[in-house]
Amino acid sequence: MAYNLLKGKKGIIFGALDEKSIAWRTALRCREEGAELVLSNAPVALRMGEINKLATAVEAPVIGADVTNMDDLKKLFEESMKHFGGGIDFVLHSIGMSLNMRKNRHYTAIDYGFNQKTMDISAISLHRLLRTAWDMDALNEWCSVIALTYIAAQRVFPDYNEMADAKTLLEGITRNFGYHYALKKKVRVNTVSQSPTRTTAGSGVKGFDGFITYAEKMSPLGNATGDQCADYCVTLFSDLTRMVTMQNLFHDGGFSFTGVTEAVIHQMEK
Ligand SMILES: NC(=O)c1ccc[n+]([C@@H]2O[C@H](COP(=O)([O-])OP(=O)(O)OC[C@H]3O[C@@H](n4cnc5c(N)ncnc54)[C@H](O)[C@@H]3O)[C@@H](O)[C@H]2O)c1
Repeated sequence: MAYNLLKGKKGIIFGALDEKSIAWRTALRCREEGAELVLSNAPVALRMGEINKLATAVEAPVIGADVTNMDDLKKLFEESMKHFGGGIDFVLHSIGMSLNMRKNRHYTAIDYGFNQKTMDISAISLHRLLRTAWDMDALNEWCSVIALTYIAAQRVFPDYNEMADAKTLLEGITRNFGYHYALKKKVRVNTVSQSPTRTTAGSGVKGFDGFITYAEKMSPLGNATGDQCADYCVTLFSDLTRMVTMQNLFHDGGFSFTGVTEAVIHQMEK
């Protein structure tokens, strides 16, 4: 069901790789709610070609940008503003990648070169993106910026490896840049901390099957799906949540505040 919550709004969505991607699900929902979109992903992801299906479905241009490259980001904002004929009302940062996880390196034995790249792609990219928009004055008043995160920023999930540190940094940048952008132009910046979700990035976590089943049993409402995350993002992009900024918002069926559940106790007693 659509409510026209984003009618007249113009947004950039980063990170739709395939139809399982949270960014893909969110782009579809934003369009349903009346938004005009620009889609972006890393040039290497664009070569897969999948994103063109989404571009057709949501009637949006695709503009490539490696989020670690300031020239790419500048070009993306320039072209987006040209396409929209003005500023941006919302941005989804749905980007993550761990080089040490890809190379199967244990947390206690990470390669620091890989680690720097992981931090740059998964966390500092939010700073780069906001700073580019700041310098170009690309975001409209009350613009809403969301980055996706995971509760490994607050609690230990050993197999999440260096991504736990990346998410902690991402949430820090959200608070700190969020402060400055609120004062400058009433721009709000938040993270959404999503349940484990079967996507390319999600499934890269070691032992993901066990992990997602455990989270399901530990969440009174069950795990939140990608489509439900998209719904939540729509509300945060809308004008109904204007005073929410600098927050980490859990979207996890209650997982974050649950100590234990009967389902888990039952499992332990087996
Ligand atoms: N899937 C989960 O379980 C889960 C849970 C909580 C949070 N998240 C977060 O949600 C976000 C989206 O992940 P997803 O699960 O939809 O997986 P996904 O693999 O579909 O999306 C990750 C995206 O990051 C993009 N990316 C990687 N390097 C890039 C670069 N240098 N420049 C631009 N883009 C780049 C990829 O191309 C891909 O589109 C990530 O931040 C992830 O950590 C995922």
